[in-house]
Amino acid sequence: MKLSVIGTGYLGAVHAAAMASLGFDVVGVDVDPGRIDRLRAGSAPFYEPEFDALLAQVMATGHLTWSVDYADLADADVHFLCVGTPQRRGSHAADLRYVWDAVEALIPHLRPDSILAGKSTVPVGTAEAIEGRIAHGWTGDAAHRPLVVWNPEFLREGFAVEDTLRPDRIVVGVPAGPHGERAAEVMRQVYAAQMAEGIPLLVTDRPTAELVKVAANAFLATKISFINAMAEVCEATGADVVTLADAIGYDARIGRKFLGAGVGFGGGCLPKDIRAFSARAGELGVDQALTFLREVDDINSRRRDRAVETARDLVGGSLRGQRVCVLGAAFKPNSDDVRDSPALDIAARIHNEGGQVVVHDPKALANDEARFPSLRYEPELRVSLGGADVVLLLTEWQEYRDLDPVATADLVAAPRLLDGRNVLDSAAWRAAGWSFRGMGREHG
Ligand code: UGA
Repeated sequence: MKLSVIGTGYLGAVHAAAMASLGFDVVGVDVDPGRIDRLRAGSAPFYEPEFDALLAQVMATGHLTWSVDYADLADADVHFLCVGTPQRRGSHAADLRYVWDAVEALIPHLRPDSILAGKSTVPVGTAEAIEGRIAHGWTGDAAHRPLVVWNPEFLREGFAVEDTLRPDRIVVGVPAGPHGERAAEVMRQVYAAQMAEGIPLLVTDRPTAELVKVAANAFLATKISFINAMAEVCEATGADVVTLADAIGYDARIGRKFLGAGVGFGGGCLPKDIRAFSARAGELGVDQALTFLREVDDINSRRRDRAVETARDLVGGSLRGQRVCVLGAAFKPNSDDVRDSPALDIAARIHNEGGQVVVHDPKALANDEARFPSLRYEPELRVSLGGADVVLLLTEWQEYRDLDPVATADLVAAPRLLDGRNVLDSAAWRAAGWSFRGMGREHG
């Protein structure tokens, strides 16, 4: 079976390489020639652990090729649609322009009985709309018209290779009737290796498959905002949110994962997905069902306000002229992605208050600089800490967790620290003389 992957971001590039590693012939297509050149040369266009090694391995097999020309995917049996669906400018809804551009470009090259498998995160109803567009543009025999299935992706950045090869579950939304059964059968062949390892494959209707993805991300965002709301209450009462999370997390029905209180969630998925989901619910006349997601978003942005306030507090009331060392700029560790990064947002706000911000990040500095050029970026950790009036740990890279409080105190001008991810041993830092603050744990 031959596969194509359209869009070579974190999702598409990793999916293409992963499927090629399973023995499929795969062609990855993107409209960005620079990106395709890099991939052809075996160089990843983003930082993702394990991806470089996987890419080198599959490029050597000859199973994986890259192209900017849609004609090169004409003989594929299944086309995976992996383009981005960012937030629309001036609105909370998803911007589907890349989806539609890809569908238009693909239609002339679709062969009879081929399958378009959508993996992008889309508003419910998109698969059906794409099917309508294909039906309109299809000039061949109607009985062999290409089919549209929805096959959402649940990979986390930083674990993209592992999550693609060994996902928790595979969901395939198919059209009703015998066509749908045929499509499900093809998708079972595509994922035969994962199914043989016991990974469940759920066949659903298409709206359910589209909703599974946004519901999962909405739930994860809600879980994070729940614990961050508890952090607000802890701050008002002197309680400790980390201990609280540990204690409620022992309840298997609740679970400890995604109860990390701190500066909140960011990235290219959770923030825009909850907004697009709410916007879609409004269009469907069920906006009340999701009004709580507005609160989830608000709690999340209040954490950023709180981090700025705490930094101000630590330096005695005004950030103007203060040297502020920001540790971490990616939206989470093991990623160079800075889309809607809480760390970068907080750094920018402090800069706007007159703080002299120095940002360190092990992988994301080039992307940061492109997004917010007026901040100072420092690749050397020791240099970034040097002379700091306050240190803000905002993305929990391992090298920050490993910092020695005594040695670090010697580098800074004043030992003041906000642990914006609640990952440091507060007692050890306080014992080394630091004015230490966490998020939702004033005394912990
Ligand atoms: C998220 C989902 O976890 C994936 O399942 C999904 O496939 C993906 O979006 C997507 O839609 O493509 P990702 O954006 O890579 O994955 O990152 P997460 O690991 O979910 O983290 C999101 C944000 O939440 C980060 O800023 C992280 O720092 C924050 N977070 C996470 C917390 O603040 N607390 C936690 O306890 C966990």
